[in-house]
Amino acid sequence: MDLGIAGKWALVCGASKGLGFGCAQALVREGVNVVINARNADALQLAASKLIAIGADAASARGQKGAPAVLTVAADITTPEGRAAVFAVPGGPERDFDIVVTNAGGPPPGDFRDWDRDAWIKAVDANMLTPIELIKATVDGMAARGFGRIVNITSSAVKAPIDILGLSNGARSGLTGFVAGAARSKIAGQGVTLNNLLPGKFDTDRLNTTMGAAATKTGKSLEDVRRAQQAQIPAGRFGTPEEFGAICAFLCSVPAGYITGQNVLADGGAYPGAY
Ligand SMILES: NC(=O)c1ccc[n+]([C@@H]2O[C@H](COP(=O)([O-])OP(=O)(O)OC[C@H]3O[C@@H](n4cnc5c(N)ncnc54)[C@H](OP(=O)(O)O)[C@@H]3O)[C@@H](O)[C@H]2O)c1
Repeated sequence: MDLGIAGKWALVCGASKGLGFGCAQALVREGVNVVINARNADALQLAASKLIAIGADAASARGQKGAPAVLTVAADITTPEGRAAVFAVPGGPERDFDIVVTNAGGPPPGDFRDWDRDAWIKAVDANMLTPIELIKATVDGMAARGFGRIVNITSSAVKAPIDILGLSNGARSGLTGFVAGAARSKIAGQGVTLNNLLPGKFDTDRLNTTMGAAATKTGKSLEDVRRAQQAQIPAGRFGTPEEFGAICAFLCSVPAGYITGQNVLADGGAYPGAY
C-alpha cells in the first residue's frame, strides 16, 4: 500500500531507540524526512546514521535517487528550550511539520504515597503537557495546509491502569482526555488527525529495565521474569519496535485520514476487554 507521505516532514521525539526509533524507521522507509530528538547526542547520532542507511535502501528499492533527510536535535523535549530547538533546526521545516510523533520517557514506578507535588508536576509535564505543547505549536499550520497527522505514544496503562505506574496512569489519562476533545474540533474537517498509540509490552531498553527491577525485587532471573511476562500475553511474546513503527506509519498515512481521536492499542491481545 502506498502510504502517500513520501516527501513530507515528520518530527519524532524520543527517537534514538525503542518505540520512537521504530516510528522514525517506518516513516523514513516511506520516504518521509525526519527530525529526530532525544537527550543523548551520541546515541541520537548513531540512530540518525542507521536511519540514513534505511532511507537510502528504501529509496533505491523504489528506484528513486534521493533519500529522505534525517536531522537531529539533542535536547530534552519536556523543556521549552528543547521544543524551541526542534523548531529551529537548520534545514528543518520550523513549525511546518506534516507529522508529529510525541514521545518521552515514562515516569518511574512506585507507591503513590511517596510521590510529592514535584513528582506529579514532572510526570504531567513530560507525559501530558509536552505533547499538548507540541500539538499547539504545529496543528494550526497543518490545518492551514490541509494535511496533518499527530500520533502520541502513550501506554496500554491508559486502558488498563497498572497500580505501580500511578504517575503514568494519571498524566497520560489527562492527555487522552485532551486528545479526545481536540481531535474532534474544527481541525478534523481540515485534514488533521490526532490519535494515541498505546503500547502494551514491547521489547525495548525500558521494558528490560523494568524487568531487571522486577528480577532484583523477586530474586528471580531476568530470563524467568521475561518468560513469565510473555506467558501472560495471548500472542506469547513481546512486540517489536518495528511492528509498533509500522502501525504509527499507517496512522500517519493518507489512507488513514478517517481515523481520528482514537486510542489504538497494540498489546498482543493482553487487554482482556471486548472494547
Ligand atoms: N516499551 C514498552 O513496552 C512500553 C509500554 C508502555 C508504555 N511505554 C512508553 O512508551 C514510551 C517509549 O518507551 P520505550 O520503550 O521506547 O523507551 P526507551 O527504549 O527507553 O526509549 C526512550 C527514548 O526516548 C528518549 N527520551 C527519554 N526522555 C526524553 C526526553 N525528556 N526528551 C527527549 N527524548 C527523551 C530516549 O533517549 P534519551 O534518554 O537519550 O533522551 C530514547 O530515545 C515511554 O513513554 C514508555 O513509558 C513503553
